[in-house]
Amino acid sequence: MKIDAVTIFPEYFAPLQLSLLGKAQENDIIDIAIHNLRDYTEDNHHSVDDTPYGGGAGMVMKPEIWGQALDPLMIPDTDLIILTPAGKVFDQKMAHELAQASHLIFACGRYEGIDARVGQYYAQASFATQGIRVREVSIGDYVLGGGEVAALVMIEAITRLLPGVLGNPESLAEESHVEEGFLEYPNYTKPKIWRDLEVPEVLLSGNHGAIAKWRAEQAAARGED
Ligand code: ADE
Repeated sequence: MKIDAVTIFPEYFAPLQLSLLGKAQENDIIDIAIHNLRDYTEDNHHSVDDTPYGGGAGMVMKPEIWGQALDPLMIPDTDLIILTPAGKVFDQKMAHELAQASHLIFACGRYEGIDARVGQYYAQASFATQGIRVREVSIGDYVLGGGEVAALVMIEAITRLLPGVLGNPESLAEESHVEEGFLEYPNYTKPKIWRDLEVPEVLLSGNHGAIAKWRAEQAAARGED
């Protein structure tokens, strides 16, 4: 999978070099490129934003610069993800859908967001016929300072679903519980007693049927909260 992210803060993406994501890049399972939006400005001040038409607080990111940055990335079969608190809320189902994609572009807006014509432009039929899709996505009902952290969240959730990224693919299989609307059961490891708190007896029983039943009950109870 190829991933591009466009941002005015490329440094935000440093954690992508760590852990399983770093390994997945070394192993060529994913190819991530971060692009600095300011590289596409043509004025001396490298300004990326301007005041909103119609008035109001804040600044809006200029469409020309986004167009310059995005045009060269728009190859056939691409999902352009515009991060905005007004977008469709990201969940595990969307993570699975996007894990099937061959190329994702994350457009990370700051300020009051990106001029609305940018999404509108790439959503036109001439792009759709090349397999270019545009989605506005939010990672939750709160407002971040920009789309960078949201892109990181999505990249982690999506790429861990790709074959070869997780060290232990069984963890993925077991997670199907989560996707069926159940939350996972509580987990314990050694020691058996820690600060007077004991591991539930059933987990020490060796009775796999009883363990599975207990875990299912616990997971269902968590889901009720
Ligand atoms: N930009 C600001 N807030 C956001 C959110 N909740 N999700 C995605 N992008 C954002």
